[in-house]
Amino acid sequence: MTNPVRYETEGQIAVITVNNPPVNALGHAVRQGLMDAANRFAGDDAAQIAVIVGAGRLFLGGADISEFGKTPQDPILPDVIDRIEALEKPVVAAIHGAALGGGLEVALGCHYRVALKGAKIGLPEVGLGILPGAGGTQRTPRLTGVEDALDLIVSGKPVDATRAQVIGLVDRMVEGDDARIAGLAYAGELLEMGATARPVSDMDVPSSELDWEARDADLERKFPGQVAQRHAAKAVRAATQLPFAEGRKEERRLFMELMETPQRDGLIHAFFLERKVSNLPELQGVEPRPIKAIGVIGGGTMGSGIATAALLAGLPVTLVETSVEAASKADATIAKNLDGAVKRGKMTEAKRAAADLTTTTDYEALSEADVVIEAVFESMDVKHQVFDQLDRVMKDGAVLATNTSYLDVTKIAGATKRPQDVIGLHFFSPAHVMKLLEVVVPERTAPEVTATAFRLAKTLGKTAVRSGVCDGFIGNRMLSHYRSAADEMILQGASPYQIDAALERFGFAMGPSKVADLAGLDIGSMTRDRKGRDLPGIVNPDWADALVENGDKGRKTGKGFYVYGDDMAENPDVQAHIDAAREKAGITARDFTDTEIVERYMAAMINEGARIVDEGIAQRPLDVDAVKLFGYGFPRYRGGPMKYADQVGLSTIRDRITRYAKDNPTFWSVAPMLDTLADRDGKFEELNQ
Ligand code: 3HC
Ligand code: NAI
Repeated sequence: MTNPVRYETEGQIAVITVNNPPVNALGHAVRQGLMDAANRFAGDDAAQIAVIVGAGRLFLGGADISEFGKTPQDPILPDVIDRIEALEKPVVAAIHGAALGGGLEVALGCHYRVALKGAKIGLPEVGLGILPGAGGTQRTPRLTGVEDALDLIVSGKPVDATRAQVIGLVDRMVEGDDARIAGLAYAGELLEMGATARPVSDMDVPSSELDWEARDADLERKFPGQVAQRHAAKAVRAATQLPFAEGRKEERRLFMELMETPQRDGLIHAFFLERKVSNLPELQGVEPRPIKAIGVIGGGTMGSGIATAALLAGLPVTLVETSVEAASKADATIAKNLDGAVKRGKMTEAKRAAADLTTTTDYEALSEADVVIEAVFESMDVKHQVFDQLDRVMKDGAVLATNTSYLDVTKIAGATKRPQDVIGLHFFSPAHVMKLLEVVVPERTAPEVTATAFRLAKTLGKTAVRSGVCDGFIGNRMLSHYRSAADEMILQGASPYQIDAALERFGFAMGPSKVADLAGLDIGSMTRDRKGRDLPGIVNPDWADALVENGDKGRKTGKGFYVYGDDMAENPDVQAHIDAAREKAGITARDFTDTEIVERYMAAMINEGARIVDEGIAQRPLDVDAVKLFGYGFPRYRGGPMKYADQVGLSTIRDRITRYAKDNPTFWSVAPMLDTLADRDGKFEELNQ
């Protein structure tokens, strides 16, 4: 294997180049290469100063994340950085593109730092469930002071080079696009000035009046259940209290503790799956069709959101509605969305002014669209009428997409003369905000059409997940199942509020009754639609029907499971409806612990997830994880339901289901895939490879 670190000299300047595509991650070979280069520079009498630079699009992307969880191989990164810092001749880091995590820590071990304008500089480790473990928590506050260091390290958000210079993280920011040239120029000046090595570890940490206990309590509130942020702050605190060498030991101890947590495992799973999920083997080498103009049918909740998403991405949109009034209403909604995006800094004024939206009642206006997405009422008849029209007006090769939530996309495709061009694009509400896009692929869809859907998702900044055709696709099919597990618990004695609270403590953005209120109790949970069909054994939530009959349909009417005013409160009417349902079913309420609530809910989710993979609806367990993480508020630090199942152990999950089956064997039947894997002590992870 060629050495990923090159050493060369230009006059009195040694140039050390790291070349480890795609992101110059600091894997074992790079660490060894840097150590060797530092030693060579120490003994190279011809070189008086060194510049470290990254080849390709960035400086250094950080530690090699794929090595985490394996035994660390010497030299470890902190030792490499110490070696660089201890050199008696000065070393300059020349940063372009990005210096992240261990990459920035290498730069902090250098004696001087120059960054090209636009470079992203940061310590994103908490996003992976760890903390900067190669001196970052000790050196950063010495350069920036405690508050700015905490901002960087606890938020994990990078700053740009301009800000990095303001806070003292880099010495100089320059225009230009060649880091090597910038590094050589700066090194030349330093040589001329007779600059010497200047180890950050020798500097004092500026004093601070921070109330650390109060800050810790803030972090606990802000990141409930998560450990990395609080540990990271503790490491910075150590920098303010201990000499460098001691502080470093404390940083290492805290870092190693985090390395052992399931949260680290979950977050790193999420990091890789976010990239892997849209990388489908079936699409290798398949060229997507061009996407220059978008059509949208229906300008209600979803159509307006989808049109907004496309306009935010700079695509021209033609939106068709049934009446002039409905079209202008959609126009106004979209304008409001775009103005909001400008206010929040998500869109520039110039892009807002250039947003190209046409609303009309005339289908002929769609003749030039490359992709058309229908978001009309959820009725097969209406969808058929719309697709008939599209068949008539769309140009050859246009992609015809439906945003249906539950209808059979194969049937919709089959009613057209071009089923190969039809696909499901299941957006989530609000469509211009939510990251998830389920790409629902019927059997006859052409591969280029699927590739076009994935390309469109990328253009819109969404995470696309492939789903086969089934009732509810991946996300809503699972939702109906675990929602049903919650209904069963309510009938047996748990309150909706205890269930919401327990699951929110587990990390969900919202408990199931809050989700139901948000979606609207009248749209019919799948639980009810599917009663007696695909999901035998389910509990019908009569109490939700009673609320709807009362006109309490959730958030949109100001009342559902909760009452929505200035504050949100429990709806006092709910309990009576639940009591009535229990009486009708002859059930005496029993107590549930929070643990049992979480275990039952998760077991239902995992069991249905396993069926979905087994049936090929999701190609891999990681696709299921992605859907829940990016569309359903599943806590990222738990990695997704299938990852969580692996962590708990599949035989434990199976045992729980078998136990629940005693009361309700039809609902709680163990999915065959879960059974097989549990038998041989396997993991879902095996199926991700
Ligand atoms: N280690 C291993 N692989 C990495 C990696 C890393 N640090 N960073 C990115 N990759 C891989 C990705 O998985 C992807 O692989 P694939 O092509 O097989 O899917 C490939 O590199 C390209 O990555 P992206 O698609 O993300 O490329 P972008 O150009 O969109 O983004 C980036 C580049 C901003 C560097 C982004 O990859 C990123 O944010 N990476 C993670 C940075 C990070 O968190 N660094 C800290 C690591 S922890 C650490 O340093 C610990 C230390 O304190 C001891
Ligand atoms: P909505 O009722 O808010 O909007 C539907 C719009 O379609 C209305 O403005 C109506 O005037 C228009 N319309 C009806 N027939 C039409 C036709 N023939 N031509 C042009 N316009 C027509 O409905 P919503 O919520 O936007 O849902 C639309 C679709 O998206 C449905 O299939 C729904 O299942 C799906 N969906 C809804 C989600 C949600 O959270 N609301 C989430 C994901 C998918």
